[in-house]
Amino acid sequence: MDIPTRLCKTLLISSVVLYLAFISLSNRYPNCPPSHFFSPTFLKVSAPSPSSSPSNTTRRSTSKPAVTAYSPTLLSHLAFGIIGSEEAWHHRRSYIESWWRPNATHGLLFLDQPPSESLLPWSPDSPPYRVSRDLRTFLNKSDVTPQRIANGIAEVFRQVEHANLRWLVMGDDDSIFFLENLVEVLKGYDHTKYYYIGARSEFVLSNFLFSFSQGFGGAGFVLSYPLAKALVKDMDNCLMRYSHVVAADQTTMSCIADMGINLTPLEGLHQIDLRGDISGLLSSHPKVPLLSLHHFDMVEPIFPTMDRAQSTRHLMKAAKADQSRMLQQTICHDRRRNWSFSIAWGYSAHIYERIMPRSLLQYPIETFQAWLPAPGPPFYMFNTRLPSTDPWNQSADLVHKIRVISPAKRRLEKYRSECCDIIGVAGNKAEVKFRECMPQDLMA
Ligand SMILES: *[C@@H]1O[C@H](CO)[C@@H](O)[C@H](O)[C@H]1NC(C)=O
Ligand SMILES: *[C@@H]1O[C@H](CO)[C@@H](O)[C@H](O)[C@H]1NC(C)=O
Ligand SMILES: *[C@@H]1O[C@H](CO)[C@@H](O)[C@H](O)[C@H]1NC(C)=O
Ligand SMILES: *[C@@H]1O[C@H](CO)[C@@H](O)[C@H](O)[C@H]1NC(C)=O
Ligand SMILES: *[C@@H]1O[C@H](CO)[C@@H](O)[C@H](O)[C@H]1NC(C)=O
Repeated sequence: MDIPTRLCKTLLISSVVLYLAFISLSNRYPNCPPSHFFSPTFLKVSAPSPSSSPSNTTRRSTSKPAVTAYSPTLLSHLAFGIIGSEEAWHHRRSYIESWWRPNATHGLLFLDQPPSESLLPWSPDSPPYRVSRDLRTFLNKSDVTPQRIANGIAEVFRQVEHANLRWLVMGDDDSIFFLENLVEVLKGYDHTKYYYIGARSEFVLSNFLFSFSQGFGGAGFVLSYPLAKALVKDMDNCLMRYSHVVAADQTTMSCIADMGINLTPLEGLHQIDLRGDISGLLSSHPKVPLLSLHHFDMVEPIFPTMDRAQSTRHLMKAAKADQSRMLQQTICHDRRRNWSFSIAWGYSAHIYERIMPRSLLQYPIETFQAWLPAPGPPFYMFNTRLPSTDPWNQSADLVHKIRVISPAKRRLEKYRSECCDIIGVAGNKAEVKFRECMPQDLMA
């Protein structure tokens, strides 16, 4: 396939300034309902009992169903369990501290052993820590790492359980969560039901080797309160039943499956079982809320001029401006110059010096490699475009700055389309303005 990626001009916002400007486009979105429209409340409806059936044909007001409404889910309804190791915490704490909000985020970090001197006094920017239970005697084996991680669910739940707990979110010490988006998405699920919400790996072989039915722990998985409670009650039995299993997430999935509950897959959680430069993946995020990223130790820094810790903080700066649009890809065409623009909000902007359809540009450029060598394709759970060094027209080389103007309103309605207009290209600057898609945008 002849895809001139080299002529695709990539601007990462670290090296070039990507201006994020905010204007209210309320007159452009006349049908946009107020944001509280998207905060569903759950209705628990109990049918009237037979004894209260009307005894005559007249409708009686007392036979109306009893309704219990729940308030919208807030960050305070969530608790996080982060499972890490003392050794890795020295450099991984920067990943967790990039999203952890002291005194606002509930939860605990579990370490395999007490922190060494250099980690003390414990940073107030880190989650409070505990040391995991030693399971070696209980399970009569020396390597209990997978079971320690699975048992972390029970350890954190017992310590954070409170009357308002709705969701238990489990992650690794190198999982980066996007809290506002997570809360927004969890508002759409009934926390009083049994939910095991998570994501598969993007690497086919990971799913095959571990399980297609599990939520990968680095991407993070979420248990509703009743499921977490039931799982914790059965945890010791579960650990014994699956003491031969060598993977923590598979142990957790097996115990949950034994209770009759299956995975509810959720887009936006990212395990990142990849190596190298993941900019191709991050530049093609679908229009769903970004919930997590993982394995920042294993991939190159996501901004080429920064180290890993700086890159993480830099990404979070954009997330602070508008988490709802984070990374989401929006594509538009400059008909006069025959250019295609692909913007990954808060991360990168690409210019292709020809008209390319959205149906093609939605596929990530394969800038990355898989976590493990695989015998052959398919490697990924999505289609990719191969990078190309095809020389072509260099007309976009002048552009050094792309200013992106997006609506001030957060993008909470995931099924609303988003396109853009090239407002202008002057000198080394281009300006792009987001709007809803219209029929003329359908042309490639
Ligand atoms: C039927 O129920 C209504 C409402 O409770 C009551 O006012 C009415 O007297 C009842 N009629 C008969 C025939 O029982
Ligand atoms: C968190 O709470 C503690 C105790 O109330 C307080 O000392 C500390 O300053 C708070 N930290 C932040 C970041 O608000
Ligand atoms: C513990 O494991 C060892 C080695 O596998 C075995 O010989 C021993 O009987 C086990 N002990 C118990 C109490 O199961
Ligand atoms: C844009 O592409 C069309 C169709 O290939 C071509 O006819 C036109 O000359 C091109 N315009 C420019 C400015 O290159
Ligand atoms: C690149 O294309 C532009 C218009 O699309 C044209 O004006 C320019 O001459 C072309 N440059 C080269 C090197 O082909």
